[in-house]
Amino acid sequence: LPWMVSPAVALAFLPLLLTLLIKYRFFFMLFYRAVLVRIWKDLVSGLSREQRAYQYVLTHAIPGDPDSILDAFDIWCSKIEFISNIGPKKGKILDRLLLEHSPLTVLELGAHCGYSTVRIARALPLGARLYSIEMDQNNAAIAEKIIRLAGFDDNTVELIVNPSDEVIPKLHSEYGLERLDFVFMDHWKKCYAPDLQMLEGSGMLCKGSMIVADNVLFPGAPRFLRHVRKSGLYDWKVHRATLEYSKGIRDGMAELVYKGHN
Ligand SMILES: C[S@@+](CC[C@H](N)C(=O)[O-])C[C@H]1O[C@@H](n2cnc3c(N)ncnc32)[C@H](O)[C@@H]1O
Repeated sequence: LPWMVSPAVALAFLPLLLTLLIKYRFFFMLFYRAVLVRIWKDLVSGLSREQRAYQYVLTHAIPGDPDSILDAFDIWCSKIEFISNIGPKKGKILDRLLLEHSPLTVLELGAHCGYSTVRIARALPLGARLYSIEMDQNNAAIAEKIIRLAGFDDNTVELIVNPSDEVIPKLHSEYGLERLDFVFMDHWKKCYAPDLQMLEGSGMLCKGSMIVADNVLFPGAPRFLRHVRKSGLYDWKVHRATLEYSKGIRDGMAELVYKGHN
């Protein structure tokens, strides 16, 4: 009888199902925290995830203190909900690269709530300027508040609300940028390769300019890595790490040093 077969079949698949559940448990956890909890909280709070994060930071951090703002974000993202900020582990690698490099002109692609923006701004030498590009107006509104809450004025951090492929060609003509010492890429992964090539064509990358790109292994940016490898324009390496605020999902952050002749 057919109804006798199905429990037997189900039982046969149980070990496979269990193995898959165990093997991919970190991805299931991520799906739960990043998607299911988010949908549920959106419904019950009537606020966006970014607004919820902002409320938490506002009530748990000290205005004018970037460290306490980053700490509040880290607690919210690891214990309450999930937002793909660069996070503390990869953040420390970024801090070190910035301190070693002391860049005066920095470009960030993808600000989201402004976590990495604050992280970068706090590591910059006096007189440096950070241009951060964010195309989503709602995210940018939160990022702007976070950046100013941390105490950075618009002489230090300028947030530009537009897609990167529209802003990069105007950085020289409209924003007066001559050169870029440091670029941090953390926007949509499919934009990494075309935006890097656009930066190469802009003439703003100089010998020694550093480009750091997050999440090159997860979700992954294979076209970008292929270009980096094949173009011969960079000394480069990938810092191995795990995905922000999750254990067990392998990720990496690429560090590139431009070898061009400008
Ligand atoms: C992973 S989040 C950035 C996280 C942030 N860097 C941090 O660590 O705190 C990616 C952000 O990039 C923005 N974004 C994606 N593609 C973009 C593009 N082409 N130009 C500008 N912003 C973009 C998205 O709206 C999103 O807010």
